[in-house]
Amino acid sequence: MKVKIEAYDHLGRGIAKIDGKVVFVPYTKKGETVEIEIVEQKKNYAVGKLLPLPSDTPSFCPYYGKCGGCQLQHLSYEEQLEYKQELVKNQLERYASIKLEELPPIMATKPKAYRNKVTLHIEGNQLGFYQNKTHRLFPITTCPILDPAIEKLIPVIKTFIETNRGLNQAVMRVLDRKIMLCLKGKADEAVIINYFSTYVDSLYYNNRLIAGVRSLETTIFGKRFMVAGDAFFQVNDLGMRKIYQQVIDWIPKEQEQVILDLYCGTGTMTLLLAEVAKQVIGVEINEQAIMSARENAHINKVDNVIFYAGSTAAILPLITTPLDFVVVDPPRAGLDEVTRSQLLELLPKKIIYVSCNPLTLARDLQMLAEQYQLEDIKLVDEFPETYHVECCALLSLRKTKIS
Ligand SMILES: C[S@@+](CC[C@H](N)C(=O)[O-])C[C@H]1O[C@@H](n2cnc3c(N)ncnc32)[C@H](O)[C@@H]1O
Repeated sequence: MKVKIEAYDHLGRGIAKIDGKVVFVPYTKKGETVEIEIVEQKKNYAVGKLLPLPSDTPSFCPYYGKCGGCQLQHLSYEEQLEYKQELVKNQLERYASIKLEELPPIMATKPKAYRNKVTLHIEGNQLGFYQNKTHRLFPITTCPILDPAIEKLIPVIKTFIETNRGLNQAVMRVLDRKIMLCLKGKADEAVIINYFSTYVDSLYYNNRLIAGVRSLETTIFGKRFMVAGDAFFQVNDLGMRKIYQQVIDWIPKEQEQVILDLYCGTGTMTLLLAEVAKQVIGVEINEQAIMSARENAHINKVDNVIFYAGSTAAILPLITTPLDFVVVDPPRAGLDEVTRSQLLELLPKKIIYVSCNPLTLARDLQMLAEQYQLEDIKLVDEFPETYHVECCALLSLRKTKIS
């Protein structure tokens, strides 16, 4: 049957209507009329499958529409950016009652070959991604959104698993052209070292360094950062710099201020903020990441930072210093309830909220609204070809609390 796509949902799917009932159709463009087949019928909505699927027509990825990792390759890059701007504007209005007069500005990055890290799953002699919300392996031999330096490792691993069984995961990372490979499984360690050592600069097996250097190094705004093993690090080199620059731009250059950096990972933002502060306090739940953060502070000779390993909810009550700025960069789930109410007790003058999920950002802005108002918001296209978008929001303490 034919339907007209009228809008998009938050997963990048087109929305059509059949007899007033909403039908979600992945891989379609607003305004076009498409042939679909209904594949799921629910009480309040249906899901349609585009005929033919996008992978049946030429695209830069042979698996588009099948592997599930990308959702927007059928849109031009400009259309993708506009989709993300509209998405954030709509979600702020719907879930936080914030009505932006214009679309929030978005900073573009590089649409292809941008990811510096990927996790592939291995079953027998196949490697690939798990399909959306399943543990069903979708085998791949290429992935054009990866940095070519790690994309070219895919056939190398494939050749290895053709004759050596027992691996179940491969995490590949590239920073400043140096490559790290973290393997997991039950294959023979000596055989792994012998085969992979010539291809990579750092080789981990079951979370243990078995060959090469312990960390990859990169330089951001003149500071050196070491990233060891599977520690969190932003996946888009250009996008990450745009996010950090935006955060820095919002902070006045007053050396007397105290900044709290919640969810600080390996301390990248913490150390960059140390330039413009009397003290920066970093909080992170992952102990390995905190070890890297302390090491990075030492390498860069930064001594006005302090790092705490623990959950934000556990560490926040220990912080008694008056705060000028709090930067939060939580995972997709956003702030937890305890952290939100602790922020409402600490009452810093400004909060910078870096979010990879506009839905939870909107929910948190709504929850913080009695004390904080949105002063500015900028988007960064950290994950081109997918529906994901990074938001940087500047919140300021209201002069009078609203109820
Ligand atoms: C999006 S990353 C932010 C990393 C960092 N700001 C950066 O730019 O590299 C989110 C971080 O929050 C950490 N995390 C998750 N839950 C946490 C919690 N309850 N308390 C503190 N840190 C947490 C994760 O380990 C991860 O490093």
